Amino acid sequence: MGAGIAIVAARGGYETLCFDMSDEALKRQRGSAEKFFGKSVEKGRMSQDDADATLARMTDTTDLNDLAECDLIIEAIFEDLDVKKELFGKLNGICKDETIFASNTSTLSITEIAGGSGRDDRVVGMHFCLPAQVMKLIEMSRGINTSDETFQTAWAWTEACKQIPVETQDKPGFILNALLVPFNNDVIRAIEAGLCTPEDIDIAIKSGLGYKMGPCTLLDLIGLDTQVRLGEAFYPITLDKRAAVPPLCRRMVAAGKLGNKSGQGLLTGLTSEKASEAPGFTVVSANESRSFPEGMDRGVANGDVTIHLGGGYVEDTSKTAVLVELDTECLGVHTGEDMGREGSNAVGFARYRNGNDAPSNLIELVRQPNTTPEALAAARAVFEVAGFDVVVCADQPGRIVDRLVRPKYNDALRFLDEGLATAEDMDKTCCMGLGYPDGPIERVTRGGLARHYDMSAAIQAATGDIAYHPARRAYVAKQREGAA
Ligand SMILES: NC(=O)c1ccc[n+]([C@@H]2O[C@H](COP(=O)([O-])OP(=O)(O)OC[C@H]3O[C@@H](n4cnc5c(N)ncnc54)[C@H](O)[C@@H]3O)[C@@H](O)[C@H]2O)c1
Repeated sequence: MGAGIAIVAARGGYETLCFDMSDEALKRQRGSAEKFFGKSVEKGRMSQDDADATLARMTDTTDLNDLAECDLIIEAIFEDLDVKKELFGKLNGICKDETIFASNTSTLSITEIAGGSGRDDRVVGMHFCLPAQVMKLIEMSRGINTSDETFQTAWAWTEACKQIPVETQDKPGFILNALLVPFNNDVIRAIEAGLCTPEDIDIAIKSGLGYKMGPCTLLDLIGLDTQVRLGEAFYPITLDKRAAVPPLCRRMVAAGKLGNKSGQGLLTGLTSEKASEAPGFTVVSANESRSFPEGMDRGVANGDVTIHLGGGYVEDTSKTAVLVELDTECLGVHTGEDMGREGSNAVGFARYRNGNDAPSNLIELVRQPNTTPEALAAARAVFEVAGFDVVVCADQPGRIVDRLVRPKYNDALRFLDEGLATAEDMDKTCCMGLGYPDGPIERVTRGGLARHYDMSAAIQAATGDIAYHPARRAYVAKQREGAA
C-alpha cells in the first residue's frame, strides 16, 4: 500500500520521502514505481519528462530522522495497533510541530492510533484502496480529537493529488470494509451451506446486480487468509456475527487453498456448457408475474415443460419439468416437503428483479434435494436458449441474490441512521472502491424501500436471522405504503 501511496503523492507534485525499515522493500517500491510510470508513458497518460520529474521527486530512506520536515506523513505499516502507536510516538519526537500524521489502517481506530502520539489533534485517517496508484477513492476520517484544520488540510492534499475523498466516521471498516467484510463472509457461508456453487454466485451477482466482479473472484483475489484476518479484526469490535470468520474460510486456509496466490481458492473452474436446444414448453398463467411483467412467449400447446407464471403449481408427472415462478416464498410452499427427501419434476424459478426496477437477465432456478436432473436440465435449457443467464440454487429463502444483498442494504440504511457517512458518500465509496454500477442506498431506494421491507421480512420470518430485520427506513416506507 505504501508503494502505491508514494506514487500518488509524487504524481500530485509533492516531494515524497519513502520510508521503510527494509532496504529490500524500498528497492521493490522503486522498481514498481518505475514500471508504473513507464506504462503510463507507453499509454500516453504522461510524457517521459513528467515521468522522470515525478520519479525524481521520490527519495528513499531507512532513517526516520529524515522525515523531520515533512508536512504530511501517511503510515501504511502492517496492521498492528501497538506498532502504529509506537511509530507515531517516535515521529512526534522527530517531526516539526505542524506535521500531520495520517494512518491508512483498514480496521483500527484512528482515535486509538492517535492516543499517546502527543499530537492527537494532528492525526487523521486516510484509507486508500488497493492499488492506491490506480484507485481514486480515499475514505477520510477524524479521530475524536482531530482538529478541523488537520482534517481540511489532509482533505485538500487528496484533492491536489486528484484523488476523490469521502468523509466517514472513525468506525471499524469505515464504509467500504464495513459493507464488504460481512457480505463476503455471507458468500462463504452460503457456499458452506450448499446453497449453490461459487461459480453460480458470481454469475448471479454480476448478472443480477451488475457488479463488475463476482464476490468469489474478489475473495480469491484478496486471499482467504486476508478474509480471515479481517473477520478476526472486526468481530471482537462489532460483535456482528456476520463479521465472524466462517468455518469454511478457516478450513480453506488450513488446507492451503488461499485463492489466486496459492493457485486454488473458492472457484473450481467448473462451469456447465450453455444449452443450445430447448424442449417445447407451455406457459400457464395463474397470477400476475413479477419476472415477466410483459408476459412471456406462451410456447407450444402441451409442451414437455409446463411453466406456471405467477405461482399456481399443479403436479403433473407426465411432464419432464413443471416450472413454478416464485416470489418471496420457497418452492416447498407449492410442493410440500419431506424431511430432505423431497424432489420431483418441479423446479422453482424467478427472474431477478430489484423491486420496481426492470427485470434483470438473471434466472435463478430452485431445486429440492431430489429434483430430477432431467427437470433441471430442461428448465435450464428453456431459459438459456431464450438468452438468459441461469443459475441453480437450493430451496432457501432469498435464493442467491436477495439472500446475499439484503443484509447489505439493511447495513447501509442503518449506517445512514447512525451518521457513518452521507448516502452520497456511501454510494460513491461502493461505486469507486468496488466497481458497483450504483451504490446500495441508490439501489434499494430505486427498487422501493417497501419492497425491500417485504423481501427482507420474508427472509427473516423464515430464517430468524437478525441480519434480515428490515432497517428503520424500510419500516417507515412500509408504514407509509399502508397509510396511502
Ligand atoms: N492490502 C490492502 O488491500 C489494504 C488496503 C487499504 C489499507 N491497507 C492498510 O495498509 C497498511 C499496510 O498494509 P499492506 O497490505 O501494504 O502491508 P504490507 O505488509 O504489504 O506492507 C507493510 C510495509 O510496512 C513496513 N513496515 C513494517 N513495520 C514498519 C515500521 N515500524 N516502520 C516502517 N515500515 C514498517 C514493512 O517493511 C512493509 O514494507 C495496513 O494498515 C492495512 O490495513 C491495506
